[in-house]
Amino acid sequence: MKEKILKALKESNGGYISGEKLSDILGVSRTAIWKHINSLREEGYDILSVPRKGYVLNSCPDLLTEIEIQEGLNTKCLGRKVVYLDRVNSTNDIAKDLAIRNEEEGLVILAEQQVKGRGRKGRAWASPKGAGIWMSLLLRPNILPIHGPKFTLLAAVAVAKSIREETGLDIQIKWPNDLVLQERKVCGILSEMNIEIDTINYIVIGIGINVNIGADEFPKELHNRMISLSQVKGEKVSRQHLVKRILENMEKYYFEYIKELHFDRILEEWKQLSCNIGRQVKAVYQGREIIGKAMDLSKDGALIVEQEDGERIEISYGEVSVRGIDQYV
Ligand code: BTN
Repeated sequence: MKEKILKALKESNGGYISGEKLSDILGVSRTAIWKHINSLREEGYDILSVPRKGYVLNSCPDLLTEIEIQEGLNTKCLGRKVVYLDRVNSTNDIAKDLAIRNEEEGLVILAEQQVKGRGRKGRAWASPKGAGIWMSLLLRPNILPIHGPKFTLLAAVAVAKSIREETGLDIQIKWPNDLVLQERKVCGILSEMNIEIDTINYIVIGIGINVNIGADEFPKELHNRMISLSQVKGEKVSRQHLVKRILENMEKYYFEYIKELHFDRILEEWKQLSCNIGRQVKAVYQGREIIGKAMDLSKDGALIVEQEDGERIEISYGEVSVRGIDQYV
């Protein structure tokens, strides 16, 4: 009922709508309408009530509810179902649970807060309430599992482009999927895949973006490694707009890729956005320490590193440190 009232208020486009009319359309008493209006106000909706005129919606809070995300969203698949939760362990866990229960591709899980947010390599991911985008997307591409890792690169490109479009900030990608600003991490992506020998059952793409987090809100040990969009921009950034933009860009790249299985365009864009290419990097790969210059990406998205002796190594998994970004000297 609350959602229906909100929808009616939004549809009246800044005009008044009377309690009587709302109770007629929705078939509930005016007292019930009033109670729901108050509950919307508690969530942060600024709803004015004027005697003999009715209610008018002045402004909406930056919540990531289904109704807010779907409003004006220009996608066919991503976001056709949005599950919005206040506090969860990890949105990836919720998405995986629902994937096992046959939820369809395109499902989006959004939470205001994660208490056991997960990063790569078993690390924790700090996800304070209301200050970031903690989101998981469910995909079911009908392609061979060997192509699975490409979706992480694809997501990194889609998110980086979306952040650039929404904020104008000069965000870059650090291989394989960290997004960095001023040499610090703003966003991480954790993809989890469930496969059989020749089939991908599902891929969950977990995206964590530090949107409106103050410098002192990060755990102490992360202070000089993490940064948020608002810290760099100097003002708050709309989470709603950014989520919609990500869903639209992600869908565009996803459909383009699964239609023809051409990854070249995404790789090109990845390279343009990369902070690795041309820089000194260091990694431990297959038990060996690799130090050299990142030269290129292979057609599968591996990082090609040229060592001092001229030997070229393709690093296809794991992490690399970039001189200057990860205090690697
Ligand atoms: C990393 O860089 O280590 C990846 C971080 C991924 C964090 C996101 S937040 C939404 C989703 N749920 C999780 O528990 N993790 C991912």
